[in-house]
Amino acid sequence: MVTGALVPAPPGPASPRARGTAAVPDVDEALTARVLDGLDGVEAQLREAVRHTDALADAASRHLVEAGGKRVRPMLALLAAHLGDPDDPGVLTAAVAVELVHLASLYHDDVMDDAPLRRGAPSAQAKWGNDVAILTGDLLFARASRLVAELGPLAVRLQAETFERLCLGQMHETVGPRPDEDPVAHHLQVLSDKTGSLIALAGQFGAQFSGAPADVVEVMRLYGERVGVAFQLADDVLDLSRSGEDAVARTGKAAGTDLREGVPTLPVLLARRASAGGDAEAAALVELLDADLSGDEALATAVDALAASPYAATARESAREWAASAVEVLDGLPAGHVRDALAAFARSTTERDR
Ligand code: IPE
Ligand code: IPE
Ligand code: MG
Ligand code: MG
Repeated sequence: MVTGALVPAPPGPASPRARGTAAVPDVDEALTARVLDGLDGVEAQLREAVRHTDALADAASRHLVEAGGKRVRPMLALLAAHLGDPDDPGVLTAAVAVELVHLASLYHDDVMDDAPLRRGAPSAQAKWGNDVAILTGDLLFARASRLVAELGPLAVRLQAETFERLCLGQMHETVGPRPDEDPVAHHLQVLSDKTGSLIALAGQFGAQFSGAPADVVEVMRLYGERVGVAFQLADDVLDLSRSGEDAVARTGKAAGTDLREGVPTLPVLLARRASAGGDAEAAALVELLDADLSGDEALATAVDALAASPYAATARESAREWAASAVEVLDGLPAGHVRDALAAFARSTTERDR
C-alpha cells in the first residue's frame, strides 16, 4: 500500500465489473468470478495509489483512472496468479503497479501523439497542457515504483528493465530504422519493446508473486511478450476505424491518430514496401497517406483507403499469428482452466473492437 501524502478517497465510479470493461475470458465461471473479484481489489488500490494532497496533482492523476480503461494488464497478472496461490498479497500489489506504469505511459504517449482523446475523455494534455500531462505521468511512475519497492529488489529490477525497454521502444519508433535495417523487422522489435515488455511483466509478476515455479514464470513472460505484439498490432488496425463508424464510442480514442502523427504501423509499412516494389495501387495509397492529413477530410480519406486495403487485412492476420504463437507457449503449462483462459485471452486481443 502506498503511504503518505494521501487524502481520503472520493466515492469512485462503479467497479470494472459493473462497468463491464474488464476483458476477463469466460472459460470457467468460478475462475472468472475470482479474477473479477481481484479486479475489484485492483480498482480500489489503484484509486488509492493515485491520490495526492496537491489538488492539481490529484485531479490530473485521477483523470484517466476514472475515465475507464480495459485493465488488461492487471487482469493478466491476476489470471497468471492462478498458476500458484492467487491470494498472495504480492499479486494484487504487482497487478496495481503494472497498471500504474501503463497509465503513466499513456499520459506521456498522448503528449507525443498529440492525441485529443483517451478513454473517451479529453487527454490530460488537452485538459491541462503538456507540462502538467508529462509531470503527472512522472508522478504516476513514482507511485508505481513505491508499490514495486514493496515487492523486493528483484521486482524493482524487472520493472526498471521493462520501463527501459518501453522508453527505448518509443524512441526507436520515433527515429525509425537505420538504412541497413528492414523496416518491418525494426517495427516488430519496437512493438515488442514498447508494448510486449509491460504485458510480459504483467504475466511474469502474476505467476512470480503467486509462488509459481520458475519455469511457469518464464512461460508467462514469453507468452505476455507475444500477446503484447499481437495486442499492439491489433491496436494499430483499430486506429484505422472507418470514418462512418462511431469509433470514439468504442475505443475512446480519435481514429487516425497514428496516420496524422506519422506513427509507422504495419499496414503503412506494407503499403510503402509494395509501392516501392512497383505496385501502382499501393503507390496511389501511399500518395494519400503522405498528403497533408491535418484536415479531417483528408485524414478520413486516408484512413478509409488504408482500412480497406489488403495491408490492413495482412496486419490483422499477423496479429492473429502472434496470438497463436503466444498460445503455443502455453504448452509449457499444466492443462486446465487457467491455461484455457490464457489461450482465450490471447485470441481475444486480436478480435476486440476497443
Ligand atoms: C493502449 O493500451 C496502449 C497500447 C499499448 C496499445 P490499452 O488498449 O490497454 O488501453 P486502456 O488501458 O484500455 O485504456
Ligand atoms: C502506445 O501505442 C504504446 C505505449 C507503450 C504507450 P499507441 O500510441 O498506439 O497507443 P494508443 O493508440 O495511443 O493507445
Ligand atoms: Mg498513442
Ligand atoms: Mg494506437
